[in-house]
Amino acid sequence: MNKVANSYFAQEQAASPSKRHQEALERCIARLAEQMPVIGLRNPKIGTAQNRWIYCDGPDWVMGFLSGTLWLAYQLTGRSDFARAATARRPGFRMVLENRRYRDHDLGFQFSLSSVAEWQMTGDREARRMGLAAADALLGRFRPEGGYIQAWTARGPDDRAQARFANGRMIADTMQNLALLYWANRQTGIDDYRDVADIHAETAARLLVRDDDTSFHTFLFDPADGTPLRGETHQGFADGSCWSRGQAWLIHGFAQCHAYTRNAAFLAIASRLAARAETLVGSQAVPVWDFADDPAKPDHIDSSAGAVMAAGLYLLAGQCADPADRLRWRAFADRLLDGLIATCDLTATEGAQGFLAHGAAHVPAGRHDAMLPYGDYYFMEALMRSLGHNSFFW
Ligand code: GLY
Repeated sequence: MNKVANSYFAQEQAASPSKRHQEALERCIARLAEQMPVIGLRNPKIGTAQNRWIYCDGPDWVMGFLSGTLWLAYQLTGRSDFARAATARRPGFRMVLENRRYRDHDLGFQFSLSSVAEWQMTGDREARRMGLAAADALLGRFRPEGGYIQAWTARGPDDRAQARFANGRMIADTMQNLALLYWANRQTGIDDYRDVADIHAETAARLLVRDDDTSFHTFLFDPADGTPLRGETHQGFADGSCWSRGQAWLIHGFAQCHAYTRNAAFLAIASRLAARAETLVGSQAVPVWDFADDPAKPDHIDSSAGAVMAAGLYLLAGQCADPADRLRWRAFADRLLDGLIATCDLTATEGAQGFLAHGAAHVPAGRHDAMLPYGDYYFMEALMRSLGHNSFFW
């Protein structure tokens, strides 16, 4: 990503943020309408160098993001073709519910943006049932010994390497999945959903967030007795570094937990993470993929980290009592959105299928500088939050 100037202060900002954000949102909707017939029922996974989509070849953690984007577009426009394109994806989500090997902590990403969204937008009872079934499956991943939801799954009794990798591990990303549990609690009145979400968030605040308000991507426990062992990375540069999308998942996730619970501790931790991110992002237009200060670190930005962080900062700003805090987080979010629009926005680029370039899916695995469906979803969520919309599916 060396060739893209990545300095916020280098960007000229002619129009007001709301005009820029409204125009960008309209371009997203136009791109989505144009691409719906091309994409059909497939789910984008990652972009090619030509900004065309490569699609998931079965259930995948990213399968909900196009669905969520379509539901947001339906909410904004009332166009029934957006709703039809979203509901037509239901068989794929049913496959996840019917087969244990497709299920992990990503049930929240998958089902908040599909079944819960559909229930909210249309009142369809089967969509509600599927959302609750997904919440039950997520609840079943709770490990009471350590007080966390296990992220990943050991695929079978013979797969020992995967078992060692998955068992006893919590990850930052799961904070986004707790909203499914809080939603299920409100739908049913059953306390377990809320209690498990609360306990997981408290453990994440204690173990994933470091004393300097950076974060570990994952944290490992002794699977037998839940003894906390150590922080490790999976997609970041190093165990001790701060993976920028992980920090963004945590900011958005804790702000979301506060929105559901009004627990001031969650707002405080979201604010600490945001303050640290503000320093780490500094004058960058788009966050680097990992904040490590190390010459050996590959040089890439992550537009998806910028989009998730911006959406989370608007969410946080809306819940702060102090007007100075509200202004501070809104200004930081505006800055990130403007950085994305100036540096990564593909919505006016002919031939591109998505909204944002330069997403870093997994740099150590060689997947970077690409469109990502979650970058696109959170870009749209952030643009909408910037413009005052407050009805989402989390
Ligand atoms: N949740 C997986 C990722 O952020 O890449």
